[in-house]
Amino acid sequence: MDIAIVTGSAGLIGAEAVRLFASRGYRVVGIDNNMREYFFGEEASTAWSRANLESTISNYQHVDIDIRDQAFVNQVFAEFNSDVRVVIHTAAQPSHDWAASQPQVDFSVNSNGTLNLLEACREFCPEASFVYTSTNKVYGDNPNQLPLVELDTRWELDPSHPFAQHGIDETMSVDQTTHSLFGVSKLAADALVQEYGRYFGMKTACFRGGCLTGPGHSGTRLHGFLSYLVKCALTGDAYIINGYQGKQVRDNIHSADLVEMFWHFHQHPRCGEVYNAGGSRHSHCSMMEAISLIEELTDRKMNVSYTDQNRIGDHIWYVSDTRKFQSHYPDWNYAYDLRTTVEEIVESHARRDRLVSAEARQSATNHSESSIEAVLADLERTGAASCDLVRS
Ligand SMILES: NC(=O)c1ccc[n+]([C@@H]2O[C@H](COP(=O)([O-])OP(=O)(O)OC[C@H]3O[C@@H](n4cnc5c(N)ncnc54)[C@H](O)[C@@H]3O)[C@@H](O)[C@H]2O)c1
Repeated sequence: MDIAIVTGSAGLIGAEAVRLFASRGYRVVGIDNNMREYFFGEEASTAWSRANLESTISNYQHVDIDIRDQAFVNQVFAEFNSDVRVVIHTAAQPSHDWAASQPQVDFSVNSNGTLNLLEACREFCPEASFVYTSTNKVYGDNPNQLPLVELDTRWELDPSHPFAQHGIDETMSVDQTTHSLFGVSKLAADALVQEYGRYFGMKTACFRGGCLTGPGHSGTRLHGFLSYLVKCALTGDAYIINGYQGKQVRDNIHSADLVEMFWHFHQHPRCGEVYNAGGSRHSHCSMMEAISLIEELTDRKMNVSYTDQNRIGDHIWYVSDTRKFQSHYPDWNYAYDLRTTVEEIVESHARRDRLVSAEARQSATNHSESSIEAVLADLERTGAASCDLVRS
């Protein structure tokens, strides 16, 4: 049977890739050790997503290993060997703020982990396509050197600039710029993925994501901006905007649209490719615009405050030009725009809240039942009353 190996399979993009490849006949082997909980705490745990995949997808097998462990990674690849047709590598430490707190952990997961996977792929399944979820942070803060103009609710690129109409393309320099340590560890991995295509002829591609989003995100303060904004809107938690007057612009692509890109690449793979992969001019917003949209869709006023301190290396304006990918794979297109994406995120958070409340009610019921059992046991032990009497 054809095997797809997905790393980070319980994360936003990984889980979406699992569902897509499983629905198209692949047996999917997912690697994920829930390190997201270690990075960002319990609220960001992806255990719920793993449980969901295991209970709903019959041709899914979960492997709880760390991609930093070459021996374990090799074991998984050796087991399936040349039956592996595609590797979708999404496991990562994904936050540039977090990377500064533990640079070695960040680098070992993002760079060494990627090298381990490339080597395993080269040894056991060199014909497989290898898809890497890179990031627009490989360009560092070079996008901030573009000529920007300040509008009422957003920064915009000067209309006369060649990137203004379609966004930033793959010719943007990755040099002499502040990347953040996360950007560096991702760039090292990005270069490795390209090199395994160019040097060894493997079918590798880097997808340099803008904001990747969707209902499957375990959003948290340091990662998953739209998902975290929605969470704050629904809970009333405070949201702090970092710098740029809240007018910083991001393009946002739904996880389902991104994994469709992976699918198209896998149908006709190329060697050592690089693609910018985001919402492009099709789906983008500023922080202020995202907040208004979420307030409208949740019918709640958000508790937002502002600090002048922007995140180091953070982009002021970033919109991906996806035309290179579209010229190689003209059958791919977006299924979601910004509004439908945010609507889905709102609905999924509301559904998760309903589940949590139902679980809390259930646990309260269980608790009171067990209290009754304890009282009954006590009464029986002391012979003080007939159980039927107490139960009634
Ligand atoms: N979400 C975004 O906005 C965005 C933007 C650009 C690029 N990316 C990149 O896309 C990829 C996927 O992002 P996401 O939003 O789905 O992230 P995510 O955090 O939701 O998923 C990543 C998964 O990888 C797992 N993981 C982390 N370290 C691991 C390790 N050492 N061994 C095994 N599993 C490990 C985590 O537990 C998590 O479930 C990442 O490579 C990220 O850098 C994301």
